[in-house]
Amino acid sequence: MSDPFDLSDTPAYRSWREDKLGRSPTRIDALTVPLKTLGAPTKGELDAICEAVARGNLALIRCADPSGIEPGAMLGLGRHLGLTRLDANLCADEKAVSRIAVRPGGQTGEYIPYTDRPLSWHTDGYYNPQGSEVRAWMLFCVRDATSGGENALLDPELVYIRLRDQDPAMIAALMEPDAMTVPANAAEGQELRAASTGPVFSVIDGHLNMRYSARARNIQWREGQTLDAARECLTGLLSRPDVYIFRHKLRPGEGYVSNNVLHNRTGFTDAAGADRLLLRIRYLDRVRARPSSEQTGTCHAHPGLDHPDTTVQDEER
Ligand SMILES: [Fe+2]
Repeated sequence: MSDPFDLSDTPAYRSWREDKLGRSPTRIDALTVPLKTLGAPTKGELDAICEAVARGNLALIRCADPSGIEPGAMLGLGRHLGLTRLDANLCADEKAVSRIAVRPGGQTGEYIPYTDRPLSWHTDGYYNPQGSEVRAWMLFCVRDATSGGENALLDPELVYIRLRDQDPAMIAALMEPDAMTVPANAAEGQELRAASTGPVFSVIDGHLNMRYSARARNIQWREGQTLDAARECLTGLLSRPDVYIFRHKLRPGEGYVSNNVLHNRTGFTDAAGADRLLLRIRYLDRVRARPSSEQTGTCHAHPGLDHPDTTVQDEER
């Protein structure tokens, strides 16, 4: 059976590559889907979201009514898209929705997502254990920042193509099972999360998965010249303009639905009394190729962790 991600199967890769590049838009407008009501999407709206995600692993949703951005509506949309396994511990559904806002003091205030500082390139949940990979997320804007807070977004499949075209050995190095280790997260002598070792690129259920953080600190990389070269190449790709890198600032009522694309965030400034607020859900499922009837959600538990906000290691949004 042909496999485009098998480095020895060049014909399958060439065919997949041609199809992927032919489908990939160079403007985020092509992935934008207007939605009348977030919690009650029509079949046509769901089809449009699935089609966008199938093309670019990303849809930019634009809701007519920004006041409809709330956890229940987001979770409902997710179920229509086949997103049922929440990356959270508590099974009360709305606890799986993280409020991304500046929080001075307290535990979450130690993490960059909960500050106004810039976040470097990453995929969500890169510190999750193997078998609990974050494969999709959605992020909606309730209030935007007065200035800044823009995202850059890039489809990992296009990164894979760029690197494999340059040297397939770099892909092999990034697929090594011990390529990247995120040390344990400990506070006051208590381990909040075990160390996480795994590849950057892996294939799950036939789909490419990327696990990555551009953080210079707190990531341990496997030693090796080829992996060093791959990391350098990757850093270069992410630091220069590329037709496939989208830059967008979410406005109230807008949101992304994504198969965990690479992303970053610029720093921002809030006006007094109108703090930036985004709502985020992470999933262990990918967005369905076709929408389904709404299903009942289930909750995935990380042993020893209490709440998604407490699992945040660094860059989230
Ligand atoms: Fe993130």
